[in-house]
Amino acid sequence: MRVDRFLSNHPQFNRQQARLLLIERRVRVDGQTVSDPHHDVREFSRVEVDDQLLQAGKPARYFMLHKPPGCVSATQDPEHPTVLDLLDEADKHDLHIAGRLDFNTSGLMLITNDGHWSRHLTQPQTKLPKVYYVETEQEITDDYITRFEQGVYFAYEDLTTLPATLELLGPRSARLSIVEGRYHQVKRMFGYFDNKVVRLHRERIGPLLLDSQLAPGEYRALTAREVACFKPGPAV
Ligand code: URA
Repeated sequence: MRVDRFLSNHPQFNRQQARLLLIERRVRVDGQTVSDPHHDVREFSRVEVDDQLLQAGKPARYFMLHKPPGCVSATQDPEHPTVLDLLDEADKHDLHIAGRLDFNTSGLMLITNDGHWSRHLTQPQTKLPKVYYVETEQEITDDYITRFEQGVYFAYEDLTTLPATLELLGPRSARLSIVEGRYHQVKRMFGYFDNKVVRLHRERIGPLLLDSQLAPGEYRALTAREVACFKPGPAV
């Protein structure tokens, strides 16, 4: 929310007073004096007017998890363990997953309570590359490289996938980079060649690699630098 709106929503100030406080440079957001009425205030922001604290701001939380196969990318599931079950954190109901993986897919998963950050990561316009290690039942040939580069038609959605990069690693293994996150996308791309994916592991999202120190099922907080590498713009 814009800071002028945040201030005028406060019972103590009307719109004119809010504007004046900003002009008089009496407002601080996260310790910085703010005069721009458009400045972004979020639930994580600390907002002060003179020496009065208007909002303490809740801590933003960001984690990377090495998802093991055999758990569900959901906050709750009646049958199977979920990725949130793997987290030993308070207030887990506040957390959500930024970019799901299938039940048997392993690898990098991001979990946060910051909806603005996760939306930026997952929205199609951001076109963040997601890099997967893939093993298949049948041989992967050079034809796949061209087809994936040109796109694969998905009849159900009536769309063609965006150009994807395939690197062959062995007769039945490859590394695939895609910039979308369509339902079962990798499996369906290999499905075009009737080739079943038997192992799928997400190694990277954008610039962020899965930490090799994390065993399947382990997680850690992201560093401030890792959080910042996704650089969302101001919330609207
Ligand atoms: N594509 C898939 O088919 N499955 C995943 O879990 C991720 C991408």
